Amino acid sequence: MIKKCLFPAAGYGTRFLPATKSMPKEMMPIVNKPLIEYGVEEALEAGMSDICIVTGRGKRALEDHFDANYELEHQISGSSKEELLTGIRKIINECTFSYTRQREMKGLGHAILTGQTLVGDQPFGVVLADDLCINSDGSGVLSQMAQLYRQFRCSIVAVMEVPEDEVHKYGVIAGQAISDDLIRVENMVEKPRKEDAPSNLAIIGRYILTPDIFDLISDTQPGKGGEIQITDALMAQAERGCVLAYKFKGERFDCGSIEGFIEATNYCYDAFRK
Ligand code: G1P
Repeated sequence: MIKKCLFPAAGYGTRFLPATKSMPKEMMPIVNKPLIEYGVEEALEAGMSDICIVTGRGKRALEDHFDANYELEHQISGSSKEELLTGIRKIINECTFSYTRQREMKGLGHAILTGQTLVGDQPFGVVLADDLCINSDGSGVLSQMAQLYRQFRCSIVAVMEVPEDEVHKYGVIAGQAISDDLIRVENMVEKPRKEDAPSNLAIIGRYILTPDIFDLISDTQPGKGGEIQITDALMAQAERGCVLAYKFKGERFDCGSIEGFIEATNYCYDAFRK
């Protein structure tokens, strides 16, 4: 059973300036709930209640969000507003939170390596909170992946098909189909040009990683954009053993972009009103 889930959350969120000038991008609300809370809910649903967050300067609001606020709770106690805190209270009661800081922005691989001190020597989930995943017909994406992990015991990345002219925004995989929705990864490229992309199967921000990934990241040279890429470390893992790519069930919104954020807001607002 995987207990830990890592949230790299040190990034600046420059695409949302000026909103993110003094507020962490992970605190941007979709309707009335911050993005990171959706991610933590998904982790908890998958049984991962040890939440490990890689933060950075200016991210204190994250820690405050996952903590009691006695003054506020006292103020609204007994009023109808109290029920608005039911979800976050459940999370605070059922999860533990630990934090470490990433001092320099050196890529997602580096952010994940920074989290090693919190994760230790065990398999763990990774959630990139700006990819919002919702499966209204069943279990969440991380839970689907945890189920597969129990069977295969190796690293798993969530993938989806994207149009050819969007592959340059993602890590892209190719490999041998094991079943309709599962592929054994043989090739993996970070943000390829469309001419160089091995397929149109893009990695989205959900991973299950086995702990040998940490040594592989340590050995990974800076790649695309001069950053340490998790995609490159995973490619090394795929060459040595097994990495699976899973076509998940559900919707995914790129809330790191304005368009995706608005789409997610509309989608969640429909559900909120029902
Ligand atoms: C990161 C990863 C990329 C992945 C993407 C999913 O990129 O490096 O492989 O496809 O997340 O959202 P970023 O969007 O942080 O540039």
